[in-house]
Parts: sequence; C-alpha cells; structure tokens
Amino acid sequence: MNHTNKIWAVAGFLALGVLTAQAATNDEIAKRLEPVGQVCVQGKECPGMEVTASVGGGAAKTPDEVIAKHCNACHGTGLLGAPKIGDSAAWKDRADHQGGLDGILAKAITGINAMPPKGTCGDCSDDELKGAIKKMSGL
Ligand code: HEC
Repeated sequence: MNHTNKIWAVAGFLALGVLTAQAATNDEIAKRLEPVGQVCVQGKECPGMEVTASVGGGAAKTPDEVIAKHCNACHGTGLLGAPKIGDSAAWKDRADHQGGLDGILAKAITGINAMPPKGTCGDCSDDELKGAIKKMSGL
C-alpha cells in the first residue's frame, strides 16, 4: 500500500514536470517569435539589438526607434533651424546654455519655438526622450 502511494506520487510529479516544461517552452517560443514579427512586419530594419530590446512587449522605446519615428523629420535635415543629428558642436552649444543634457531635455519636454513639446512623441517617457537626445547629440 505504502509502496503504491509512493509510485503514484512519483508518477504525478513526473507528469507535472512534463506539463510545466511544455508550457514554458511554448511561452518562450511565443516570446521569441513576437518581437521578430513586430519589428520586421512594420518594415523597419531588424538588427539583432532591437529585437532583444523589444522582448517583453512593453519594453522601453530605443533611442533609434524614437529618433526614426519622431525626431528625424526635423533633426535629420536641420529643418526649421533644428540642431542636426550628429552635429555635436551645435548640440553642445545648446547644452552649455541650458545647463547640460538635462537642461535641453527640459526644453524638449515643454517645447521651444518651432520645436514641438516632446518632439511629437507624446507617449515618450523622459528617459526615452533623453536617450534620443543623447544619441542625436553625442553628449
Ligand atoms: C517639427 C520639427 C521637430 C521635431 C519633430 C523635433 N524637433 Fe527638436 N527641435 C526643433 C527645432 C526647430 C529646434 C530648435 C528650436 C529653437 O531653439 O528655436 C529643436 C531643438 C531641440 C532641442 C534643443 C532644445 C534647446 O534647449 O536648445 C532638443 C533637445 C530637441 N529638439 C529634441 C528633440 C527630440 C528628442 C525630438 C524627437 C522626440 C525632437 N526634438 C523632434 C524641431 C523639431
């Protein structure tokens, strides 16, 4: 009797273990497929780094995503007098007058002259904006 109970317990344990392992595998596959589907279907570039950064769905926007979607329209060409991406001297000059990176971040959040609030990225967090500014300015 005792012996039989033990065997059942072991069998049950094994069955549970198999089910759990299966579930974890399915989850992982779904997770691995999801970011690739998203990033590539939208017709964007699919470098490995961005795929990793988007795992988990609600992950933060990368600087490249924010810039490509929102900032590049003006900062790519210097439209309306916007400091150009990569023109570190122009960005540094602004930073020097506004109290550094955080100073120009504050202006980017509120907007300044032709620069719209948050550079049109209304759902960008301060950190996401800061990442984009860092990348554009090299600061
Ligand atoms: C509609 C065009 C436009 C878009 C889109 C835009 N900017 Fe700008 N941005 C400007 C212009 C123009 C200026 C210069 C404003 C001035 O000093 O008169 C500027 C200036 C800035 C500055 C410097 C602020 C300062 O204190 O001198 C930062 C930082 C900045 N933009 C960040 C961003 C970020 C980040 C994005 C994307 C999320 C973005 N911008 C999108 C037009 C734009």
